[in-house]
Amino acid sequence: MTGATSETTFRTAIVPAAGLGTRFLPTTKAVPKELLPVVDTPGIELVADEAAQAGASRMVIVTSPGKEAVADYFRDSPELEHALESKGKTELLARIRRAPGLLDVETALQEQALGLGHAVAQAEPNLTDDDAAVAVLLPDDLVLPTGVLSKMAEVRARHGGSVLCAFDIPKDRISPYGVFDVSDTDDGDVKRVHGMVEKPAPDEAPSTYAAAGRYLLDRAVFDALKRIGPGSGGELQLTDAVALLISEGHPVHVVVHRGGRHDLGNPGGFLRAAVDFALDDPEYGPALREWLTDRIGGTAD
Ligand code: UTP
Repeated sequence: MTGATSETTFRTAIVPAAGLGTRFLPTTKAVPKELLPVVDTPGIELVADEAAQAGASRMVIVTSPGKEAVADYFRDSPELEHALESKGKTELLARIRRAPGLLDVETALQEQALGLGHAVAQAEPNLTDDDAAVAVLLPDDLVLPTGVLSKMAEVRARHGGSVLCAFDIPKDRISPYGVFDVSDTDDGDVKRVHGMVEKPAPDEAPSTYAAAGRYLLDRAVFDALKRIGPGSGGELQLTDAVALLISEGHPVHVVVHRGGRHDLGNPGGFLRAAVDFALDDPEYGPALREWLTDRIGGTAD
């Protein structure tokens, strides 16, 4: 990126994965939802891949007691590698080496699920003086096609401050989301943010731009996180820290992402993602398409 410095780009991605996963019970009693496979790849590897592609060199996974398996997934498996090597299974070998090779992985511990803002705050001790900004990626939100973080870094280079990601959602379907109050800039896909309303009725929504799980946050957010109290649901909300920064004049923009998304955090959204990815898979796609067509009684085309 021309002219970009560590002031405007980021090298650390924070991935909060310490939530209770209540929407995915009973499975999440024992299996972290971040490890559920979209076809054969855990959602968190897809998100780590996205962060690495956008230039992150390390990922801080915020975990909770009992969810160590999420970070373990990014460690080398020498015995398994040896077994696959001796059997000449080179493709599988490459697949299992992929996640550990994407970026450096560290963990931060959130002892109790006190909210997304609280989870992000736990990663502050992992940062160094180079981290003028950090990316935050929610691992249960797949934003497709990938690449929005790079555009967000460009917007920070131009406008400074923090940059969030939004989807343009039809007004009648806006109610489940956090919705931005925005004004236009000279780029149609970049808006200046003045505030945010959580889960508004369609008539009260300040815009049709709904928040997605990608953030590029100026380091100032960690100071703001120390100055907010519990918000919606009694939790420390990341959006409340961003709102505090906005009220103090910190520039916040959104990039409007023109693409799709999957919510991996509930069974319905997860199934859609799995089917979407599987239909594009050269190995499983054709047979799945045929079976699905037969199952729903339509035609293949
Ligand atoms: P979600 O609300 O989607 O996840 O939070 P959750 O809390 O696990 O899910 P439900 O509502 O109980 O089903 C978005 C992201 O923030 C993380 C979650 O792990 C998820 O990736 N999170 C949330 C934390 O790390 N800590 C928290 O206290 C809350």
